[in-house]
Amino acid sequence: MNAPLCRISGQAINRAIDFGIQPLGNGFLLPEFFSSEYFYPMEMGFCETSMMFQLIEQPAPEQMFHEHYAFYSSTSRYMEWHFAEFANQVKQSGYLAKVDPFVVELGCNDGIMLKNFASAGMRHLGIEPSRNVAAVANGNGVRTLSEFFSEAVAEKIVREEGQADAFLAANVMCHIPDMLGVVKGIRALLKPTGVVMFEDPYLGDVIEKTSYDQIYDEHVFLFSAHSVQYMFQLHGMELIDVLPQKTHGGSMRYVLAHAGAYPVSQAVTQLFVKEQELGLHKQSTFETFRRSIEQSRVDLVNLLRELKSQGKRIAGYGATSKSTTVLNYCGIGPDLIEFISDTTPIKQGKFTPGMHIPVKPYEVFQASPPDYAVLFAWNHAEEIMAKEKAFVEAGGRWIVHIPKVQVLG
Ligand code: TYD
Repeated sequence: MNAPLCRISGQAINRAIDFGIQPLGNGFLLPEFFSSEYFYPMEMGFCETSMMFQLIEQPAPEQMFHEHYAFYSSTSRYMEWHFAEFANQVKQSGYLAKVDPFVVELGCNDGIMLKNFASAGMRHLGIEPSRNVAAVANGNGVRTLSEFFSEAVAEKIVREEGQADAFLAANVMCHIPDMLGVVKGIRALLKPTGVVMFEDPYLGDVIEKTSYDQIYDEHVFLFSAHSVQYMFQLHGMELIDVLPQKTHGGSMRYVLAHAGAYPVSQAVTQLFVKEQELGLHKQSTFETFRRSIEQSRVDLVNLLRELKSQGKRIAGYGATSKSTTVLNYCGIGPDLIEFISDTTPIKQGKFTPGMHIPVKPYEVFQASPPDYAVLFAWNHAEEIMAKEKAFVEAGGRWIVHIPKVQVLG
């Protein structure tokens, strides 16, 4: 078998972590589709040239993003606040032209961030490949094209509307296998003074917290400052700032510009040093990471089996894409977890991908609280813990698996 190649450098990738056969992270389904459920071999590799940690094989995009794709951004109050803050930061950054600035967002979803520009009367354009989601954004007053972004799409936008001051993306870039095509498009789209600001789950947090559940079919890359710098420098751009974020269990906002356009902040230099210390640039780090993941699996399965043997009832909280990786990698099914509570109507009444645990509305959790709840939506821990004081007061206990498997309280 030929060695797989890095999507960025074109060099051979070293195989790093094999998660076995996995279903789609967000592929919640009804029983009539169990027999035709899609599975693929999920394995991560590391390229020592680009320093990019990436999926070796990814399902075809039409398997993942289609008319029934169940992800809308505006599901959490915290995320609404977060994107308003992101938009404010862009407006106040000093990077936008004083007169008639133009802001483009890739993967604008239902318009959760761009509506903050639209309501201020600023020139904006969203690019969202999921047609049904783009329609929701347009309905929210956010001007949105339903396209896959590329150099050709960028050139069309420049011809029709001129170059952009800012190119934004949140939790989108790490989904795109043809990243180099996107980087070329960005270079064509941006004014000489233009900036890219994008954020995604950060590899440094994933390694430090053993949050291996950030790995699933949609996340083709887990970025670091090292890999982002490599990828953009190939096309004459460079990192000028980095801003750590709390979202998605630890993300990084990267700010890039045409090389030499702006001074490079101290935060960039400091992050490079920190990443060297964490070893994000070398293969051996991913071998240690693999051993931590294996230990996490042993600890979680042992804990759930022990509690079950004591006759305890265990449910899950938040039917996240992340939970699909944990459940399938650990082999945890309805024998251990009775149901998963989730507030998203389109997930309710369905079953989790692969392990087929029923997803039930939040009201079921409230009406019949379990003894233990596994916090699969751990990235929303603060919001959830604040809301669920009554569960704990009534004797319920949280199980978390990040940064290590434990029962809280
Ligand atoms: P999300 O944070 O998008 O994670 P992922 O990208 O891994 O899918 O998903 C959070 C899920 O948790 C979503 O389905 C909604 C659900 N949820 C609840 O059920 N209750 C809550 O209080 C919160 C904040 C989220």
